[in-house]
Amino acid sequence: MRIDKYLSNAGLASRSEIKRFFKDKRVTVNDQLIRQGKIQIDPNIDIIKVDNKVIQYKPYYYFVLNKPKGYVSANEDDKYPTVMEFFSNLHIKDLTHVGRLDKDTTGVLLITNDGKLGHFLISPKSNVKKIYSLTVDKDLDDLLIKQFKDGITLENKEKCKPAKLTIINKRKATLELTEGKYHQVKRMMRSVGYEVIALNRDLFAFLTIKNLKPGKYYELNEEEINKLREYMR
Ligand code: URA
Repeated sequence: MRIDKYLSNAGLASRSEIKRFFKDKRVTVNDQLIRQGKIQIDPNIDIIKVDNKVIQYKPYYYFVLNKPKGYVSANEDDKYPTVMEFFSNLHIKDLTHVGRLDKDTTGVLLITNDGKLGHFLISPKSNVKKIYSLTVDKDLDDLLIKQFKDGITLENKEKCKPAKLTIINKRKATLELTEGKYHQVKRMMRSVGYEVIALNRDLFAFLTIKNLKPGKYYELNEEEINKLREYMR
């Protein structure tokens, strides 16, 4: 593989910035200074360094973002900032969000360039668990718990799978789902006469925001990545 491609895949910098790395004598292979991006390397054998730091090759990256309000789940948008802007300095090719949270929804959003896993996790057959915390516009009724357990029918007659509603107080609840229809939580609540006025995703699969502030992300460790891959088995 060409060394410039390797460094670009590693998400180190943009292609033009990487070109400059060579001119600026910042790149070594097995401690030999490299001046040209076209030099071939073997990532399994050679030790590649930039500024004397070893650059590890990773084909896939996985992050959890604590999505703040006001950001759209898109790669580009004409009107609003996007969730991908938090990752723009990483220069990772094909990095994207797994599923969508609405502009005003906060919480766990998985970001990866592993398209196969990402697509699988949002497909209906994956049955990935999601837990949302929600606030509604009027007092909640205990009867809702059974309605959600039996399966809500949306206003367009679409039937939802059984879901677990836990009432926290008069206007706050958590909702556990194993599917991910468009605006699902808001549409489920609307079909039983409530408007959702605040929504946070607390959990996706087993992933949480840990102690992240809004707009911050962490990279998944090996154990977490393997656990996600197990969904595909
Ligand atoms: N359901 C919604 O209605 N909105 C979200 O952002 C996520 C789930």
